[in-house]
Amino acid sequence: KVYNDYFFDEPIFDLHDAGYIPLETHEEVPDKPLNIPELLKPEKIDGNDVYYTLTAQEGETQILPGKKTKTWGYSTSLLGKTIVYKKGVHYHVHLVNKLPEVTTFHWHGLNVTGPIVDGGPHAPVYPGGSRDIDFTLDQQAQTDWLHPHPCPNTARQVYRGLAAAVVVTDEEESKLPFPRNYGVDDIPLILQDRNYHDNQLDYDADYDMDGTLGTYALVNGTVNGVFDVSTQRVRLRILNGANRREWRLHFDDEHEFTQIASDGGTLPEPVQFTRLMLTCAERAEVIVDFGDKKPGDIVTLMSDNIPIMKFRIGEYKRSDVELPEHLTTIPTPIPTKGTQIVHTVMSGMDDQVRLDGKLFDMQRIDKRQKIGDTVLWDVTNTNDMHQGMIHPFHMHGNQFLVLSRNGKEVYPNEHGWKDVVGVNAGETVRLAVKFTKFGVYMYHCHILEHEDTGMMAQIEAYDPNKEHKYHLISMEEM
Ligand code: C2O
Ligand code: CU
Ligand code: CU
Repeated sequence: KVYNDYFFDEPIFDLHDAGYIPLETHEEVPDKPLNIPELLKPEKIDGNDVYYTLTAQEGETQILPGKKTKTWGYSTSLLGKTIVYKKGVHYHVHLVNKLPEVTTFHWHGLNVTGPIVDGGPHAPVYPGGSRDIDFTLDQQAQTDWLHPHPCPNTARQVYRGLAAAVVVTDEEESKLPFPRNYGVDDIPLILQDRNYHDNQLDYDADYDMDGTLGTYALVNGTVNGVFDVSTQRVRLRILNGANRREWRLHFDDEHEFTQIASDGGTLPEPVQFTRLMLTCAERAEVIVDFGDKKPGDIVTLMSDNIPIMKFRIGEYKRSDVELPEHLTTIPTPIPTKGTQIVHTVMSGMDDQVRLDGKLFDMQRIDKRQKIGDTVLWDVTNTNDMHQGMIHPFHMHGNQFLVLSRNGKEVYPNEHGWKDVVGVNAGETVRLAVKFTKFGVYMYHCHILEHEDTGMMAQIEAYDPNKEHKYHLISMEEM
């Protein structure tokens, strides 16, 4: 079966508030090779211990013709070098802040302990300072990302450029017939939108409380990027790294593509479609088979009716690899006996956004959940202002399963692990949530301006046998 719709209720996502800015075609920017972020090289490898240094830094990047744009990046001038983590390895990461302001290094999707290693707002790295973290990677292969999370400046720092792809590998996934030659047939696509003023970013000028939008679509920091296809099949690790924008992806010729993984890794079955919508911070790994194309052909990736990048088909070796019908097994979650359904509510727009009726307080623990328990969470997006909007709900510290949408079936590509779920206005999404590591974790709307306004809360995942005191800093200590 090939799906031809975006799954999300089109009438709902087409209802945009007055501040909505659609993408535009920017023909004045000439095509250029798509930026493929370099891989971050380990400083040192010592048996099962691998050492990295990551630097948040300022720089300049040629984005538009003419003047370079002042940008921020992780160990590079814009976005970041791609970090590869392998399951089972013990990593030591030296985090350096060369920016003029405080930041944090948040591992979105990584199952590492909060609130420090995970890099939420309680783990500041001050300008000129550094922090060392270490963890053993113990989760399955997936595409995650690194972004800043200082309260309340996440949106502005991401807008300046801080965002890096994180590729997690493991043995099970490596046996599947997926392309995995980084930069050749396996590439990240970090989707973002920006505006430029005399080639510079001006976050304050373009700021929108419901999420800052721009008319330029960027893929890996490239406007009108072209990727040269040299293999029949290409794996795209698509990440919605935008502050607010939902991407509605399709090819200009309605070419089919196959989703093989969601936020938390391989899907149980591949899902074939011609359209894919991603809300903020969501990831989808897809395989595009260009077997029906010949050298010289160009296939354009669009969002709505705007071209965002091109694939230029070159000579390639024919491959007849077929994906198996079954990719991996996802266990059916069984809620732990005696646990109650947790209700959580996202409401409002603009300065009225709230999570459970409240604004974020760094020193307040909003919920507690025992580690190891599987608990049902009903996450509601009340449709109480204008026509409402989609709020992408994200949790740190776990990958959850999406069980139902308003009591009905989830979308066909939501049968795998997720850490972000787009919740439509007027909808309740039921999740199965299990924490395995004790700690304090954020959960929030991933429209970054909503998060910064305070549509965020924190949960303590506790181990009843180990009491643990957390030092929760205040906003003033940021
Ligand atoms: Cu992508 Cu709380 O983060
Ligand atoms: Cu996160
Ligand atoms: Cu929101």
